[in-house]
Amino acid sequence: MIVKTEQFTDQIKEGTIVLVVDDEPNVMAVLREMLEGENYRLLTAYSLAEARSILSRENINIVLTDLILGDGSGADILKEAARIHPDCKTIIMTGRPAIQEAIGLMKQGAYDYLAKPFGMETLKMALNKAEEKIRLERENIQLREMMSFYRISQAMGTAIELDELLKLILDSSAKEFESDVACLYFVDKTSKQLALKASTGIYDKSIKDLIFDHCLEISQYTTATGEPSIYNDPDLDYSSEELGVKSSLCQPLKAKGQITGTLIVIRIKNPHPFTHGQLTGLGLLASKAAGAIENSNLYEDLKDTYVATVEALATAIEARDSYTRGHTERVYVLSCILAEELGWDESKLGDLKIGGILHDIGKIAVPDAILNKPGPLTKEEFEIMRQHPEQGARMVESISFLRQALPYILSHHERHDGKGYPFGLEGDEIPYPGRLLAVVDTIDAITSDRPYRKGRSMAKAIDEVRRNAGTQFHPEVVEACLKAYEKGKLEYNGK
Ligand SMILES: [Fe+2]
Repeated sequence: MIVKTEQFTDQIKEGTIVLVVDDEPNVMAVLREMLEGENYRLLTAYSLAEARSILSRENINIVLTDLILGDGSGADILKEAARIHPDCKTIIMTGRPAIQEAIGLMKQGAYDYLAKPFGMETLKMALNKAEEKIRLERENIQLREMMSFYRISQAMGTAIELDELLKLILDSSAKEFESDVACLYFVDKTSKQLALKASTGIYDKSIKDLIFDHCLEISQYTTATGEPSIYNDPDLDYSSEELGVKSSLCQPLKAKGQITGTLIVIRIKNPHPFTHGQLTGLGLLASKAAGAIENSNLYEDLKDTYVATVEALATAIEARDSYTRGHTERVYVLSCILAEELGWDESKLGDLKIGGILHDIGKIAVPDAILNKPGPLTKEEFEIMRQHPEQGARMVESISFLRQALPYILSHHERHDGKGYPFGLEGDEIPYPGRLLAVVDTIDAITSDRPYRKGRSMAKAIDEVRRNAGTQFHPEVVEACLKAYEKGKLEYNGK
């Protein structure tokens, strides 16, 4: 197709590009004369086909079109302009007999109409009005985008768990950029290769490989050049229902000057190609996202280091306490079984691991002579021993990652009848973690080997637990324990 695109003036007024569509060369010449010297970049098309071609490759702001064209109508132009450039303003030019039709098009989204013949002032006034409307709409969009980015930035600042953060980045990107798919690729620290980290969006399974091949390709280009990239399929008919990557944007994620990954948004069903303005917008979001991901990774590393330190401490206690070697691990395994029986959710199970490891951490402060005394403790010695829950709580309370362990540490020696320590809490006053650990601790104490006796059977331990339901133990936990035992879940350690 031959496209006649005449550029009457240089683009003096940045951002205002006017496409004039009329199949009569004489009318076009008059319009050109009227607008000569005005600060617009003017493009012309003499047919619907030419107009379509220009609309698909130029960022048109205002369309001035005749109502009747040789190969179509102003209605076709209006539809095409609105589809490719949703912010574009279309003005219909028509002779007096067809004014009603032009007015009808305003109901379909045309911005204004001009009844032929019209003078220069009328034309300029219509264009100025359309320009002003575009300016106001842009300001509104910018304000809305600023508000969106502000909200997203705020949310990213508070989301510290990596999975939650990635979901927020992807959902925000897909929503803000009206995309069908959004993905994050991370550069593997060891292999330096890009790998898909997370994605969101709905797409037909038949094009899954096509989408992710495209994402990897555009990510590789972006990480190799360090530059963001925009892709609009040059051969694609944007109006077709054909499935495929119509348009995509890719921004690098950078932390400490290094590219750590990419953020990509893709349009499959959305028929509008992405613009360079949107590429810049995604850059803002990617820059904020990269910082938040880096913080989250640092937080996770720090948390892992703390947990590793704590595990080392727990091992150190066990090494000192010859009675309870392996106790921490066994308590964790048993606690998980009972927690499952009690229907605890995933997040509580995560706390249980740290709580299980740390529950006796306060024993670090108990002297060896008491901790390893073979016989019964004196009253004074027991007073020291019973301080270990509060000692442990003091050690952990200032470490925010470990705070979820506090109820395990503080209340694992409380009793249902209120005769436990350190606070003598009663019944439902005792936090769930304490109710659970009290039962588990007893089972492990009974079934473990001691220097002066062999560990007893699980059946004996279960009898003990059953006998103390409602006195030492919360009946609900006892019930869960009995159920788990009946199901054969408590048979471990060969007992
Ligand atoms: Fe304890």
